[in-house]
Amino acid sequence: SDISALPRILLEWYDMHARRMPWRVPPAQRMAGTLPDPYRIWLSEVMLQQTTVATVGAYFERFTTRWPTVAELAAAQDADVMGEWAGLGYYARARNLLKCARAVVERHGGAFPADHAALLALPGIGPYTAAAVSAIAFDQPHTVLDGNVERVIARLYDIHTPLPGAKSELMEKAGALTPQTRPGDYAQAVMDLGATICTPRSPACGICPWRAPCAARAAGTAAALPKKTPK
Ligand code: ADE
Repeated sequence: SDISALPRILLEWYDMHARRMPWRVPPAQRMAGTLPDPYRIWLSEVMLQQTTVATVGAYFERFTTRWPTVAELAAAQDADVMGEWAGLGYYARARNLLKCARAVVERHGGAFPADHAALLALPGIGPYTAAAVSAIAFDQPHTVLDGNVERVIARLYDIHTPLPGAKSELMEKAGALTPQTRPGDYAQAVMDLGATICTPRSPACGICPWRAPCAARAAGTAAALPKKTPK
């Protein structure tokens, strides 16, 4: 009934169950007021757009060891970056990565901007990446909507409208849930929930922190959501 209870419940779960990732500083280990490095968040989110968390780990470690800052990446030879990207696929993304790093140096003196519009204006940064960097790296209340989050929200509200048509409705619901407190942890918590509990097949509803408010669980429709328009 009180919508603010939902993010609080999920953040409590995240405090216990946050997945470990090379770029993540878990809430329990983080000093108050400390934020992650936007360069590392941006790099990980771009890599994650085409590859699983498990695969990205080793690539992320090699990239950040070789190029610890966005300015160092910006100064790299194109061929060296393409070489380190080999195996991640979709090479247009590696070219955009370099373009973006160079624009951060040229436009912003080598520091990722905290301003959402300035992030969105960078080459290769679309709505998903801008929201992820704003939320996770700057702890701003932007709403991150990837495939995992779409599934979680479709189930929480038992939305049967098929994707991709449902996107605006899902964004509206997801946005209304986004808290002003700890929005960065919240964004990562919803993605972790979708990746580990609210999975596409056989969701683990019995251990879900949102099992009580979940409309699809009540209706018995969770496993059938989200619906997709047949191609
Ligand atoms: N998938 C893509 N980005 C993620 C993140 N920051 N946390 C969890 N899963 C993700």
